[in-house]
Amino acid sequence: TNRTINVNAAGTGASIDPTMYGAFYEDINQGADGGIYAELVQNRSFEFNSGDNQTYTPLTAWDILRRGSDGTAAVVNDNNRLNENNRNYLQIDATSAGEGSGAGVGVRNSGWNAGQKLEAHKKYNYSVWARTSNPAGTSLAVTLETPEGGRLDIATIKIKGDRWAKYQVNLSPKSSTGAGRLATVVQGTGTVRLDMVSLFPQDTWNGRENGLRKDLAEKIADLNPGFLRFPGGCIVNTGSYDTYSAPNYARARTYQWKDTIGPVEQRPANRNFWGYNQTYGLGYMEYFQWAEDMGAIPVPVVPVGVTGCGDNKSAPDQATLDRYIQDTLDLIEFANGDASTEWGAKRIAYGHPEPYNLDRIGLGNEEYKPEFKQYFTQFYNAVRKAHPEIKIIGNTGPFSQGPEFDDLAKFNADTGVDLVDEHYYNEPSWFLNNNHRYDSYDRNSYKVFLGEYASRGNKPANALAEASYMTGLERNADVVKMASYAPLIANEANTQWSPDMMFFNGTSVRTTPNYEVQKLFMNNVGTQVVPSTQENPASTVQPIAGRIGLSTWATSARYDDVKVTGSDGATLFSDDFSGTAAAWTGNGTGSWSIQDGAYVQSSTTAQNTMVTAGDTNWSNYTLSTKATKLAGS
Ligand code: AHR
Repeated sequence: TNRTINVNAAGTGASIDPTMYGAFYEDINQGADGGIYAELVQNRSFEFNSGDNQTYTPLTAWDILRRGSDGTAAVVNDNNRLNENNRNYLQIDATSAGEGSGAGVGVRNSGWNAGQKLEAHKKYNYSVWARTSNPAGTSLAVTLETPEGGRLDIATIKIKGDRWAKYQVNLSPKSSTGAGRLATVVQGTGTVRLDMVSLFPQDTWNGRENGLRKDLAEKIADLNPGFLRFPGGCIVNTGSYDTYSAPNYARARTYQWKDTIGPVEQRPANRNFWGYNQTYGLGYMEYFQWAEDMGAIPVPVVPVGVTGCGDNKSAPDQATLDRYIQDTLDLIEFANGDASTEWGAKRIAYGHPEPYNLDRIGLGNEEYKPEFKQYFTQFYNAVRKAHPEIKIIGNTGPFSQGPEFDDLAKFNADTGVDLVDEHYYNEPSWFLNNNHRYDSYDRNSYKVFLGEYASRGNKPANALAEASYMTGLERNADVVKMASYAPLIANEANTQWSPDMMFFNGTSVRTTPNYEVQKLFMNNVGTQVVPSTQENPASTVQPIAGRIGLSTWATSARYDDVKVTGSDGATLFSDDFSGTAAAWTGNGTGSWSIQDGAYVQSSTTAQNTMVTAGDTNWSNYTLSTKATKLAGS
């Protein structure tokens, strides 16, 4: 079937911001520890607790070793602890010295998934906080090994005294494994205390210390996100309002950003809403840095005193609410303040002299309880007053439509928020049927941040439904200012939510058709929408400036005589594919080639767009196109 797209050469549609598309990262699906946070040791500070997950003990992922020596190893919580936020530690009492390389009493960590991914000859940074009752005669033997105990590398660390100190050594395995183990044993006798036993690949993404797992972070950076929304999602607006302090050292606390900055050994662990321990090793400093390294703007979301996501904790009293409001103001100061401010000075002291240039903040996630409006208003007023330069993002609960949605939409409009965070997960048909959702939004009211959306599935048809829907987002780019698919990543061994954009295990990452659609759109954000209609059959299509949508381009098909014309009929561009197709770049998961004077789609996955390459000043183009599917193909 021939298709004709008419483009209004004189017309100007909405401008599209470079921050139109972004990544929404939440620590769901074991996304941080055991995920994108590159730490290879699971339960490094012995803080796992049955309050995090009933299968946990303080020795989860650890085995006790007695290699040619005697003694005991146990997790202890007493006044000898490393610090008040890191209460457990491992106490090893070695009663015999042990002879030979690697002999001693100690522990071995099995890492995440099948084990630690260790690559031959690459460097790994081992660190540990330790103290010993026998400074004259104690060292640690640290071994990288296979599950069977085959040694890949060994190093020795001398422990110098009975005060907590951090010790570090580099290791480099002689061969690769996806099931590595890390053993630490005491050589000598005496009482040795250990905490924060850590192993990081030196090769983290962008070379950051305490950084991100490279393969996973690369896939996210490849999306070219304009923004990074973090840290959630439901981990933001669930949990109690307690602090980590005596007498309860509460688990399942609402996400409190101040818990997540500063030296990692001083960040208190928490129970993640999704049912596991979170160390906060990946915390707000790391999120801001990650966004900066990707060239994305940071979009933090903070709790506003209302529990959601089915988590019914009691409402905070006003004093607690005030603390949360102050925390929100402090976060803005932490991100942007200079050395004269309390929280700006902290950021500088932690190693980031420049501001993070925070320009917007999300207040709440999927909030709809009766108390929400009253609480939100307090946060809203405080932020507006102290920081009129910051855009405020409200939300409309977990609804795409209905009375609650309408009620919250009106509330947001009346309040005067800058953007509203909408979330919806629906069937592909919903996305196909709702392409025009934003056509009727009030142009004089708030803008939309579509912070979470996905069609229910990871099949190519889901991805196409999302691609189709995204053309509607772009057509309405004057209203829809930001959009992010969700969730972003999932550990195959601990997935709470499906679908997801990417799946990983300990050694590899698997992307989905949904990922490819996001990548295609996110790497080809136009600057301005060019109004268009489609003939035969008539329908509205949305070619984006510079991008030509051809929904009929099928798999394993041959095409010829593609034309790009202005509305006056003049041909701006044509290709009969008799030579090279220099002006075209195939996109999507498939490959394109020119054979026998035709452009051949040889992939098994349908792709529906092509992008002109070269001149990226898309406003030079007003496009129409006609593709002829060759007979017999
Ligand atoms: O993206 C998964 C979850 O969906 C988020 O945590 C929450 O905001 C939404 O309900």
